[in-house]
Amino acid sequence: MILGYVLGSIPFGVVLTRLAGAGDLHAIGSGGTGATNVLRTGRKGLAAATLLLDLAKGFVVVFLARGFWPGMEAVAGVAAIVGHCYPIWLRFRGGKGVATMMGVCLGLSWTIGLVFAVVWVVVLAATRISSAGGMSAAIAAPIAAQVLGYQVYGPALMAMGLIVLWRHRDNIRRLLTGREPRIGKKG
Ligand code: G3P
Repeated sequence: MILGYVLGSIPFGVVLTRLAGAGDLHAIGSGGTGATNVLRTGRKGLAAATLLLDLAKGFVVVFLARGFWPGMEAVAGVAAIVGHCYPIWLRFRGGKGVATMMGVCLGLSWTIGLVFAVVWVVVLAATRISSAGGMSAAIAAPIAAQVLGYQVYGPALMAMGLIVLWRHRDNIRRLLTGREPRIGKKG
């Protein structure tokens, strides 16, 4: 669990944007450290790298935790999401957990990961609102676990989904008031 938290807390978005001299993510857009906010720096490559690396760390945590005892990989996955969202290195101001949760889902079961990815892409494509896609996928994952026979992962995925939703509370307020920015537009 500690390793899950530590790996999850690696702030790839912050590191990459700083290395590239693309600014301080906490002072840009939503202030988040994820790929969506990196995209607001105008650096698409950096955003894609952030997405992949944030996803990879979730996958790796599950991979490393597998086999200790039943369900440990899911608990480690929750720790990775907590690490990503509340990294000690950034005084607990991290990301919103979507890419890392996708990596965790793919590590737990490729079918749950596929559902997560499809829901995320479809909602994002339909709305062009990143938070809408991410939250929809985070809600879909625990449901997918129930339907696809992975009930053992249900509580952990529900915990991850709740953390992701909690991290999006400002986005939810903006969505309800029609002020949530769409991808490709300034905001
Ligand atoms: O994955 C984060 C996304 O769902 C929202 O990001 O920066 O628009 O709050 P942001």
